[in-house]
Amino acid sequence: MSYDGRFRVWRGDADGGDLADFTVEVNEGEVVLDIIHRLQATQAPDLAVRWNCKAGKCGSCSAEINGRPRLMCMTRMSTFEEGETVTVTPLRAFPVIRDLVTDVSFNYEKARAVPAFAPPADLAPGDYRMQQVDVERSQEFRKCIECFLCQDVCHVIRDHEDNKQAYAGPRFLMRIAELDMHPLDQADRRQAAQHEHGLGLCNITKCCTEVCPEHIKITDNALIPLKERVVDHSYDPLVWLGSKIRRR
Ligand code: FES
Repeated sequence: MSYDGRFRVWRGDADGGDLADFTVEVNEGEVVLDIIHRLQATQAPDLAVRWNCKAGKCGSCSAEINGRPRLMCMTRMSTFEEGETVTVTPLRAFPVIRDLVTDVSFNYEKARAVPAFAPPADLAPGDYRMQQVDVERSQEFRKCIECFLCQDVCHVIRDHEDNKQAYAGPRFLMRIAELDMHPLDQADRRQAAQHEHGLGLCNITKCCTEVCPEHIKITDNALIPLKERVVDHSYDPLVWLGSKIRRR
């Protein structure tokens, strides 16, 4: 069973571009990435697209499909009507390089700004046993494939380019939460989250959670708990007193 599907694909580069209309064969069981590959093979050999695994695991094929951030390789054509025009555009929050390929280096800069896991210096390997509950807490966050769909959809940067300097975005605030929840980590993640990575700009609209292809509960399990930890640390009088006494 196949049909001729209607597609609008953004073509252009950093200097500008436009949507181009195509009619492409669609076969049963195909995903949007199959269509983009057929388009390259038959009508637009110079169409730029980034992909790798075609299995929802490398995080390369992120784009916006009918305006919604999605992985092209995990978006089934059967979710659209046969007569529907499917529009494929590059991630809006990042600068376009060409066609569907964007420059996501913002994310790598933010990743570098988060200090690595910092266990006690004198702890020898094997000296500490993790509780299963602590293992499971961070395992959810480690499912992240770094597709950056959460970064793309987050309106703090999507709609306000000027926030990029001060805001790490959900993916990296989640990384900070993961490290802060690790029982051995010694770094002061909470002050940094608030004052260096812009945690306060997140207003927990859960858009990031909605687009996560790994179904990580970014808002409920990472961002809200991190906000609570920051508040505890900053405003709980006993925690405050304890931190003063420990510093003596
Ligand atoms: Fe790897 Fe889509 S090609 S996630």
